[in-house]
Amino acid sequence: MLIGVLGAGTMGAGIAQVAAQNGHQVILVDTNDEQLQKAQKQLSDTMLRLIEKQKVTKEKSSAIQAAISYTTVLSDFAPCGLVIEAIVENLAVKHEVFSQLEKVVSDTCILASNTSSLSIASIGGVLKKANRVIGIHFFNPAPLMPLVEIIPAVQTENAILEQAVSLVKSWGKTVVVCKDTPGFIVNRVARPFYGEALRIYEEGIADFATIDWAMTEIGGFKMGPFTLMDYIGNDVNYAVTESVFEAFYYDPRFKPSFTQKRHKEAGYYGRKTGRGYYDYSEGAIIPTPTKDYVLGQQIVDRILAMLINEAYDAVFMQVATAEAVDLAMTKGVNYPKGLIEWSKEIGTKEILCRLEKLFLFYGEDRYRPNPLLRNNVFL
Ligand SMILES: NC(=O)c1ccc[n+]([C@@H]2O[C@H](COP(=O)([O-])OP(=O)(O)OC[C@H]3O[C@@H](n4cnc5c(N)ncnc54)[C@H](O)[C@@H]3O)[C@@H](O)[C@H]2O)c1
Repeated sequence: MLIGVLGAGTMGAGIAQVAAQNGHQVILVDTNDEQLQKAQKQLSDTMLRLIEKQKVTKEKSSAIQAAISYTTVLSDFAPCGLVIEAIVENLAVKHEVFSQLEKVVSDTCILASNTSSLSIASIGGVLKKANRVIGIHFFNPAPLMPLVEIIPAVQTENAILEQAVSLVKSWGKTVVVCKDTPGFIVNRVARPFYGEALRIYEEGIADFATIDWAMTEIGGFKMGPFTLMDYIGNDVNYAVTESVFEAFYYDPRFKPSFTQKRHKEAGYYGRKTGRGYYDYSEGAIIPTPTKDYVLGQQIVDRILAMLINEAYDAVFMQVATAEAVDLAMTKGVNYPKGLIEWSKEIGTKEILCRLEKLFLFYGEDRYRPNPLLRNNVFL
């Protein structure tokens, strides 16, 4: 099948590489010619590195590079069987582009979006034949991250979903199917990793370094929340939090934090600006955590209980199966264990107890235990 990718930025270039590596001819379209050249150069650099590491042969590398055509002409998508859109995260722009796309492709072409936060139903809303719209959500960097969330909209035909799932699976990706709800699985379930860490900091319970130390050393996470937010960028991470909060009709569970907002406002985006929660300039003093294991365990217990509660909520609200939620968090954001599995290991009664205590102490809806978690304990 000929694959079209619209947008040659971070995600589009990566997705084109994945399709080409899996034997497809790919048409990569971007309105910006420089971006196309950049994507082409990046792929050639990546291939050189892979040849050096003997992960790919010279022949295969040439075949992959030759499989991608770079163009600014949208109508070049005409013979494609699938087009994946990965342009700017703006609904008005996506609407414009999907309307144009439908005019150039055949009736049987699947039209997919890689959006992180917009609803697939809303994107498909402008299509005349909306039963072929679908969300195919890759993670960054697309060639390396195994997870792909596939999101059928209310308009999506079952056969299109099946086709998309089997195609992306054939690319060696771990596929999870989820409901068209804000943040899908990963960007919803992961919110407390950042939000609860920020809340703990704001209450003066611990500083950034101590929370990061606790979550990595005791919790077993690869990166602490503040290091990770600095890595993602506080501008990007805050925007996702805010959009999930709004999309959930301001549910207090997803309330953004002033600390992160202030960091964003100050331009303290993280690594990319040299300053975030930490200072990345040369010679900067690296803050030392308070290695208090009792405090550290309390921090981990609280954040983990909130994450597990969110995982149960996603299952309870039929966003995805428990297996899919666990797969998504281990393969999409490298959590050391699936959250549902982790809850069974710790004991669901213990998790419920932690949440009840937080709920009683704060009296905030944010800490309400999920009914499915409660059922797990009492039924
Ligand atoms: N960056 C991530 O970590 C990430 C992860 C998953 C999903 N996403 C989603 O993927 C999409 C793209 O994100 P990105 O980070 O790759 O963005 P990006 O800014 O790196 O790239 C966007 C590209 O789209 C091009 N473009 C903009 N308007 C266009 C148009 N009308 N026609 C053709 N090309 C156009 C731009 O020139 C640019 O090259 C967004 O919807 C985003 O939410 C991003």
